[in-house]
Amino acid sequence: MSQSVLFVCLGNICRSPLAEAALRQECLRLEPNIIVDSAGTGDWHVGQPPDERAQAVAAQNGVDIGHLRARQVKVSDFRDFDYIIALDNQNLRDLEALRPARAVSQLSLLFDHVAGRAGEDVADPYYGSERDFEQTWAEVTEAARNIRQWLAAG
Ligand code: 4NP
Repeated sequence: MSQSVLFVCLGNICRSPLAEAALRQECLRLEPNIIVDSAGTGDWHVGQPPDERAQAVAAQNGVDIGHLRARQVKVSDFRDFDYIIALDNQNLRDLEALRPARAVSQLSLLFDHVAGRAGEDVADPYYGSERDFEQTWAEVTEAARNIRQWLAAG
């Protein structure tokens, strides 16, 4: 049976497309049936490709994310995805506010999947530098490894 995961940040052009790419890459070999997507709580960038700096860091790590397009999270996502993973605590609060009473999805924070970092935010690199995007990639990649194992166990 396939499992599905939705990553959610604010704009869906920096952090959550990178988390989506990292988990998809991590699952290619061992969990090919997993469905991975991403969305933003905001609507400013709907329809746009990921930030060029996010595309660059993904490409440097062997993943093309240029075809992704930003979308806003919607109520039906809480029925369609087994797991919704927020990139920071504000995203998590916004998702909790949007979550319908009969949601299927299990909500968590990305860093709750990294030992010693539970409760932390993945910092928003949007106003940062290319180095910040490299750090985001490192963070989401570490989490993706653990999330894949967590899915395989569950
Ligand atoms: P993301 O980064 O939430 O990681 O995609 C942001 C992208 C755009 C904006 C904020 C955060 N913005 O304010 O437009």
